[in-house]
Amino acid sequence: MQKRLAWVALFAAPLLLTPPQLSAQAAEELYEAKCGRCHVAYAPEEYAAEEWPGIVRSMRSQAALTAEEEALLTDYLVGLAPGGEADESGPDGPVLGGYLYTEYFKDQQKAKNFDLHYLAFTVTGWASDRIQYFAEFELEHGGTGGDNTFVEQAYIDFWLNNNVAVKIGGILTPFNRFDEFHGPLANFTISRPQVSREIGVSAWKDVGVVLHGFTDLSEDVSLAFDAYTINGLGDGSNLRGSRQYRDNNEDRAIGGRVNLVIQDVVEVGGSAYNGAWDDEGEYDLTMFGGFVMVRTPFADFWGEYADAKTENPSPDGDGDMSGYFFQASRLFHDKFRPTIRFGSLDYLDPGTQLGRSSSKGDKDLTEFVLSFAYYPTNKVALKAEYIFFGEGDRKETVDNNLFGLQAAVSF
Ligand code: HEC
Repeated sequence: MQKRLAWVALFAAPLLLTPPQLSAQAAEELYEAKCGRCHVAYAPEEYAAEEWPGIVRSMRSQAALTAEEEALLTDYLVGLAPGGEADESGPDGPVLGGYLYTEYFKDQQKAKNFDLHYLAFTVTGWASDRIQYFAEFELEHGGTGGDNTFVEQAYIDFWLNNNVAVKIGGILTPFNRFDEFHGPLANFTISRPQVSREIGVSAWKDVGVVLHGFTDLSEDVSLAFDAYTINGLGDGSNLRGSRQYRDNNEDRAIGGRVNLVIQDVVEVGGSAYNGAWDDEGEYDLTMFGGFVMVRTPFADFWGEYADAKTENPSPDGDGDMSGYFFQASRLFHDKFRPTIRFGSLDYLDPGTQLGRSSSKGDKDLTEFVLSFAYYPTNKVALKAEYIFFGEGDRKETVDNNLFGLQAAVSF
């Protein structure tokens, strides 16, 4: 009997003595797994204790956190952040932020030039522990020119419970995945993939309502979804030129996206969109997309595909266009990140309704991108990039290769 008790004591002792360390380590591992998949897991000291609860809450659907995981990570981060204790519920913010980046580009055709490409300000906060707001204003190219100053996003997100929310206002349309990574720190390269620029229509802002949420399907798999109705694309010489907040017809566009996250390592998703295209609402535009993102100790991989079809093909084209990219990237010593990307865009439709407009040039091309980013801190990126463009056979082969430099800061 005594012998048995001794055994019990021997096994129980570590359990009794070590819970605090164990749970701290578990929290750290959870943090790295959940919050280090898409960007570095920002060190707890990088934000004040009172900022972390709002940040974790804002990122919980990206990371598919259960209420317990959210509480655990919040406690972990607040405990290590400067400022000590923080109130973890109720109103929070507003928090001001933003980013800016300046670029220098040189190619064979155009003059070499500097560009204050983006200056964006964000205001975000929680009006209550269920209601988040977010607004992003941006000045492109120093605010010069016609419509370069605009509201990129402005929405209110009402969380019905821990997992489902209704977002209302000006949103980034959840069609492709790259769009949400267009900021200069989330995007490891200077350029955006051509397919994300032209078919995902580059930071596609629109206005409407999104029902979104996430849920665990099993211990290893979580699912996130977006179902939306918006004004939709229309009234432009190409898809990218069709982004707008205003409606061009009386029809609402609808769409949806489903993402699966497997073991916090693989994310794979599919997307669909359908809406009236022309001013009269006679012709439809239908788009499909798919993506996969994989994080491995060796490198981070990303592939994305998109396809768009209009019911109003031009005489020379079928109204169909598609494109894809593959990207591989690796972070060394938390500071250096080389990235390579290959992409293709079949955007040959020469119609006046869709596709190539003479002023936009031939968009049927391949791209091979070599990029190198240096992060002096987690919030600053200095990048150099060379892009080899292969032109389609419709146009005389021209050397459009591009060399670029970028200095970016997120604040
Ligand atoms: C599925 C990808 C993904 C996951 C997982 C994710 N994030 Fe993010 N995070 C983003 C993107 C994209 C941005 C930049 C765009 C934005 O501000 O929304 C971002 C921005 C941030 C920022 C602001 C950084 C800046 O630019 O100043 C913080 C802080 C942050 N995330 C923390 C977290 C935490 C904490 C978690 C885990 C709970 C997490 N993230 C999980 C995608 C992700």
